[in-house]
Amino acid sequence: MPASWTGCCLAEQARGARGAGQHDPRAAAAQLLFQLTGGKSLSMLFETGMGNVARGDIGLVKELCFGVARWQLRLEQVTRLLVRKPLKKKDGDILALIHIGLYQLLHMRIPAHAALAETVNATRGLGKPWASGLVNGVLRRFLRERERLLVEADRSDQARLAHPAWLVEGLRNAWPDRWQDVLEANNLHPPMSLRVNLKKTTRADYLAMLGEASIGASPIPHTDAGIVLDQPMPADALPNFREGQVSIQDGGAQLAAGLLDLQPGHRVLDACAAPGGKTGQLLETAPGPVELTAVDIDERRLKRVRENLDRLGFRAGIRAGDASRPIGDWAETLYDRILLDVPCSATGVIRRHPDIKLLRRADDIPALAATQARILDAIWPLLKPGGLLLYATCSLLPEENQRQVSRFLSKGRGARLRPIDAAWGHPTDPGRQTLPGESTMDGFYYACLEKPGQ
Ligand SMILES: C[S@@+](CC[C@H](N)C(=O)[O-])C[C@H]1O[C@@H](n2cnc3c(N)ncnc32)[C@H](O)[C@@H]1O
Repeated sequence: MPASWTGCCLAEQARGARGAGQHDPRAAAAQLLFQLTGGKSLSMLFETGMGNVARGDIGLVKELCFGVARWQLRLEQVTRLLVRKPLKKKDGDILALIHIGLYQLLHMRIPAHAALAETVNATRGLGKPWASGLVNGVLRRFLRERERLLVEADRSDQARLAHPAWLVEGLRNAWPDRWQDVLEANNLHPPMSLRVNLKKTTRADYLAMLGEASIGASPIPHTDAGIVLDQPMPADALPNFREGQVSIQDGGAQLAAGLLDLQPGHRVLDACAAPGGKTGQLLETAPGPVELTAVDIDERRLKRVRENLDRLGFRAGIRAGDASRPIGDWAETLYDRILLDVPCSATGVIRRHPDIKLLRRADDIPALAATQARILDAIWPLLKPGGLLLYATCSLLPEENQRQVSRFLSKGRGARLRPIDAAWGHPTDPGRQTLPGESTMDGFYYACLEKPGQ
């Protein structure tokens, strides 16, 4: 059953239970999408913007927001053909509601008459009943002229591919033989992937437990602990989730720990750690006790690291700090292993965060690359001679990946590339890259840098 249909059914069940003051889910989604124009991500908006949404409607609101964000550049183009006089800026919520209507008609299995009626009704939830005629007229005309409108809208590459032109060009240049597969994968619903806590159970035992609970799942190739579910489900409903037997993590992200080659007694720095997905994985896979310090610049996000480690049953030093200016006790020691999972464009995880296509701009990339270079330069001295640093991004763009690492290698800082000999992903020289959709994974880049011993 597709996630969209699940969300829809949840919403239908909840409808009777929606209380006074609780928002219509389509109106709530329109308001959230309108706020997206202010630059905050959907994940951030969901944290604060769901207060008035009935519990049973949350799935539908998220599905509408993610779905519209995923297809927004195409929905905008269709809307341009349907709405002759552009709406005022302050009525961006009505524009978002039109996109929500079109998204339901194109991508969700809600009967057209129900989608139309509910979307028109939502104008009242937005306090703009004057717009009901407009929304009704636009959606009805779309239903009548759908094929012609789509052909016309799809003349624009940006609309047909639902990616901004700068990103299409960047991906085409970076991946001349694969960019179309990447764009296609980016526009699909992501699978829900898990990582089994190997300190508490085995993948085979956890798969058996899922089987007993009639939850369809299979192992993720190239990983020791990865499982992909046939259908997404709430994390809390997973067997022994609260007991820390399993975490939500993409298979591509799970490749990090194996590359770091941890040994008992190692002192380990996770320098951009929040929300702690890889921190937990490092501790789960270490072959013996290690002393791990998790650092992040964002104190709020460090709370998530603490929560994750508590649930998994691990302890680590957790410090707020700027990896581009290492100061404080964590910066006064040398480490055997460093994971540098730097802030990046996140162009490898667009299928999970489709709003990235709307929030990122072409000129963010050089700025991000400059930050990454500063972090790499500043953290390198904290690596022990004989130690290993893993540079990682969830970007698909060479500026943040192989060019960044090549530049560092050529700086004469004593770094040596350790080749990654693997069956997953693609060699990028230097480093290795997974692409979205391949072996269930998101797009991750990895490069291993050694500091020769004295
Ligand atoms: C890609 S995320 C890390 C994901 C994390 N490793 C995981 O697997 O869950 C990048 C992180 O870098 C942090 N960050 C950004 N600039 C930083 C800096 N100058 N110093 C330390 N952390 C930074 C961000 O707050 C963000 O949490």
